[in-house]
Amino acid sequence: MTVFYLDGQAFESEAQETVLDALIRHGQRLNYSCKKGVCKTCLVQQVKGDILVGSQRGLTRALKKRNYICACQCRPFEALALKSILSQDLFVSAVIQEKKLLSDSIVRIGLKLDEGICHQPGQYINLRRFDGLTRSYSPTNISGASLIELHVKRKYNGQFSDWLYHHAGLGEQLLLQGPLGSHYYKQEYAEDKLIIIAFGSGLGVAHGIINQALVGGHKGDIFLYVGAQNETDLYLHAQLLKMMLEYKQFSYQACITGQASTPRLGRRVMLGDPFSEAIKLHQFDRQQQLFICGEPTAVNQSRERAFLNGYPIARVHALSFEYKDLRARTRE
Ligand code: FES
Repeated sequence: MTVFYLDGQAFESEAQETVLDALIRHGQRLNYSCKKGVCKTCLVQQVKGDILVGSQRGLTRALKKRNYICACQCRPFEALALKSILSQDLFVSAVIQEKKLLSDSIVRIGLKLDEGICHQPGQYINLRRFDGLTRSYSPTNISGASLIELHVKRKYNGQFSDWLYHHAGLGEQLLLQGPLGSHYYKQEYAEDKLIIIAFGSGLGVAHGIINQALVGGHKGDIFLYVGAQNETDLYLHAQLLKMMLEYKQFSYQACITGQASTPRLGRRVMLGDPFSEAIKLHQFDRQQQLFICGEPTAVNQSRERAFLNGYPIARVHALSFEYKDLRARTRE
């Protein structure tokens, strides 16, 4: 049993229990979602005492410097003093300045922020609505742009995505936390072959990563495989065909995965599974980076298949997000 303090109040944690689990067990209401160190909604600040290194895994250098830790990853082993973080320290104001329906399920949202953030396609942000409902999304445009652009897929019963698709209007005020995450295109990959597999609205992120690479003068080949339920989900098809003409090193293949659909097999559209298509042509070699973008189930399955096919963990970049409801209450 270890005692730790949050805002001066003492709590006991059991052996191997995280701060978050101990607080929940003691009936505290907290912001959290994934409990895996991914979403960063459970951050607290370390004031006194030692922590294990994993407590700050995945945090940016700036957050580490401020002694922020993930309550869901921190297992106290000696007396530890922690402090809640005010929501205004984590979030900045954002306003919807652009909105366009890209297909019957995907909407593009352009967000203008009060203060600029330096994001990369592949990182993610947490977006909070007026009632506290929060979701994670990945920006799809390249860094340095004046707006943060998101491609949001409307989910069946998805409170936030459905609201963004149908109801949120221009001028709507939101709060934004981030950017977070370290899987994005880096300049050190400039000579590597990039294999990018995208599912659903992960296509927007994949498109952003490719643009970031090309703008930065990427020299290696880039192969994009897109998995879509039907042809209407291929909302960037024309743009990607055009990119193939402009950049000789870029190649694109769309794979329709929906059983019920009968696609008009056109240029670069086939029936099949994007991972199988990618692996047919690209067995792992050392100068290669594999990005997998989209919804968690498809991304996790592909990541497992990549490992089974010999891709080392350091070269597989899985970009997916937790969609379950985050706690609504902010810490004021
Ligand atoms: S990072 Fe702790 S709940 Fe997601």
